[in-house]
Amino acid sequence: MSIKPIPLFPEQPVDPESILGALECSVIVVRGDGMISFVNDSAQRFFAASASQLCGHPVDAVLPRDSTILALIRQAQERMIGVSEYGLILDTMRTRSQLVNVQISPINDHPGTVAVAIFERNIADKIDRQLSHRNSARSVGAMAAMLAHEVKNPLSGIRGAAQLLEGSVEPDDRNLTRLICEETDRICALVDRMDVFSDQRPLERGSVNIHIVMERVKQLAQNGFGKHVNIIENYDPSLPPVDGNRDLLVQIFLNLIKNAAEAVPVKGGEIVLATSYQHGVRFALPGSTAVKQLPLVVTIQDNGPGIPESLHSSLFDAFVTTKAKGSGLGLALVAKMVDDHGGIIEFDSQPGKTVFRVMLPMARGE
Ligand SMILES: Nc1ncnc2c1ncn2[C@@H]1O[C@H](COP(=O)(O)OP(=O)(O)O)[C@@H](O)[C@H]1O
Ligand SMILES: [Mg+2]
Repeated sequence: MSIKPIPLFPEQPVDPESILGALECSVIVVRGDGMISFVNDSAQRFFAASASQLCGHPVDAVLPRDSTILALIRQAQERMIGVSEYGLILDTMRTRSQLVNVQISPINDHPGTVAVAIFERNIADKIDRQLSHRNSARSVGAMAAMLAHEVKNPLSGIRGAAQLLEGSVEPDDRNLTRLICEETDRICALVDRMDVFSDQRPLERGSVNIHIVMERVKQLAQNGFGKHVNIIENYDPSLPPVDGNRDLLVQIFLNLIKNAAEAVPVKGGEIVLATSYQHGVRFALPGSTAVKQLPLVVTIQDNGPGIPESLHSSLFDAFVTTKAKGSGLGLALVAKMVDDHGGIIEFDSQPGKTVFRVMLPMARGE
């Protein structure tokens, strides 16, 4: 039997316009004079207008004159640099307002001309999740404060009483009083773990080298829960320091790596730790005019089976777990600690590849 070779390049090259047409994000090209010179199929759907209605018309006839995206386009044109912004509310003239992520890239051989890519929903969903788990951390916080009062006080009474009894019961029954003590201790420890959710004090923060944090976390993992895992490091050594709290950063990444180590297969388990700097990405949170820059990115990737789809929308909520002995507090705590840093956490997961991405602010004065 002969095997037919597969040509390295197809005989008929695919023209760039069909490629752009196949993309799910909307792409528009804006010239230096503000005229639209190209729109792909998605952009026509997005703006509810045909190519002929859009091309050759000024971009500010399509977008409201005061929209942030116009200001970003101008910025990219003047300085010929790429800019992106997450969580922007985009009002087009014809369609309802939408939450989008925008990326604007200068086209090098054409001074003043930029390509604008608009991503819908996906990113917006992630930000939605971010906002909703912030709320869930808050409700856990209120519950933790209540538990501390209503549960811990009576528990210490029960424990004290059991200890007193221990002296007067038959030796055979002592294991029962001991059981009471051990179980009350376990409940107290659980309440203590939840107590951090109600901690409202502002973070004590300073300039932290994230690579020292990662080194510590890696050591802890390799000497304990992550013995069986191959940990690969892929760091950007020139990364500036984080504005953060070292101990909390250790906790954040320890929790994420622990989950990754618990997810990977016993044989061939692999975790990739990476750091990078993302240029020009600004976050505008829905419902606020404040914009923040989170240029430092730490990712934790594992080759486990992925996060079940049914968990995606509630992953950062407390008590969400699929593990027999899991508490479901790990990610809720991570989300709270990232939020306390003013950072953002998001994830992408499919079988064989789960990535958690934490975006953090740079230390002041950097
Ligand atoms: N890297 C990962 N791969 C697959 N599933 C994960 C991963 N990280 C978290 N999960 C899922 O999210 C759930 C919640 O995690 P977490 O809040 O840390 O609680 P716990 O680890 O106690 O279960 C886990 O039970 C697991 O189902
Ligand atoms: Mg966990």
